[in-house]
Amino acid sequence: MVSTFPNPASVDLSRVRLSIRSLQPQLVEWRRRLHQQPELGFQEKLTAELISQKLQAWGIEHQTGIAQTGIVATIKGTRLGTEKVLAIRADMDALPIQELNEVDYRSQHDGLMHACGHDGHTAIALGTAYYLQQHRQDFGGTVKIIFQPAEEGPGGAKPMIEAGVLKNPDVDAIIGLHLWNNLPLGTVGVRSGALMAAAECFNCQILGKGGHGAMPHQTIDAVLVAAQVVNALQSIVARNVNPIDAAVVTVGELHAGTKRNVIADSARMSGTVRYFNPNFKGFFKQRIEQVIAGICQSYGAKYELEYWSLYPPVINDGAIAQLVRSVAEEVIETPIGIVPECQTMGAEDMSFFLEAVPGCYFFLGSANAAKDLAYPHHHPRFDFDEIALPIGVEIFVRSVEKFLK
Ligand code: NI
Repeated sequence: MVSTFPNPASVDLSRVRLSIRSLQPQLVEWRRRLHQQPELGFQEKLTAELISQKLQAWGIEHQTGIAQTGIVATIKGTRLGTEKVLAIRADMDALPIQELNEVDYRSQHDGLMHACGHDGHTAIALGTAYYLQQHRQDFGGTVKIIFQPAEEGPGGAKPMIEAGVLKNPDVDAIIGLHLWNNLPLGTVGVRSGALMAAAECFNCQILGKGGHGAMPHQTIDAVLVAAQVVNALQSIVARNVNPIDAAVVTVGELHAGTKRNVIADSARMSGTVRYFNPNFKGFFKQRIEQVIAGICQSYGAKYELEYWSLYPPVINDGAIAQLVRSVAEEVIETPIGIVPECQTMGAEDMSFFLEAVPGCYFFLGSANAAKDLAYPHHHPRFDFDEIALPIGVEIFVRSVEKFLK
């Protein structure tokens, strides 16, 4: 091999990398501390305290108590040439799951667990804040780091936006990541356009007329009507949605009846709808109601329907996704590790930020089967490879330096 002098760019990149990699012990320490004290949405008190304490110690200006427990940190670069503002978003909340891992950093809050990796997201955002504060000469403009409550529901993004976190100074673009055990460590799932689905929900009560199991002619059988409804709802995706578009209608609950020889007077079902294409907004609500109303009418039954939208789809901006992708290629040093085929029908309230400003949400591969760290998200044994933490910081830092050149 011919030896060559490293070019100045790669020297600079490796300096950034070494400096970030040296943060690994702290990143692990923060992540594990957060993991030990998981808190549900809008109750992230200890979590917010820890974040605020660190930011305070590092001299980073920040506001607490936004949308109850949210925090926004502001770091101004000292390099001239841009006034732009880039936001980085991390969610902080945990889940009502009893942890089954036997690790020494396991949850100390009974029945609660960081089973989705938001402890890691918070640690990565803290590491990014720390690094950027030390290296303000490497970027211009402003970075806002948004620590968001309640991603797992009922949703903290919307109230934070309503509280003005994207204003004053106005955010030009936003990025965020999710540690992702569906991808192995050393990969990044990034794509332009739809990444995650819209989530809508419904509850439906079918109201029939009860009676004796041997005398059905005197009744309106809510079980029969509900069964027809469940079947017919599946025809919406099969026959009303363009097959090129992906969508799901799932009836997850169906409850009716009390005894084998009693015809039920009512049945209750609940379900969820997922889709990528924002043009479907309003479509499923209307179509589901039409199907239920038509079937109920034909059987003489009545119904009550509640339908609401939880989160819109996560749609990435082409240019910002390209920026994140190019940065991720540098960080993981192989284009093979970039996985654009990473769409999921899961939902995320990052979508509200992406509706408000252009941006990119991406998946950071964090599974490592060799270390038994490959359980799915929301599993009581979920855990991830902490080597992903500095990779996440590096992608954020380099995205900042590239966007705020
Ligand atoms: Ni999550």
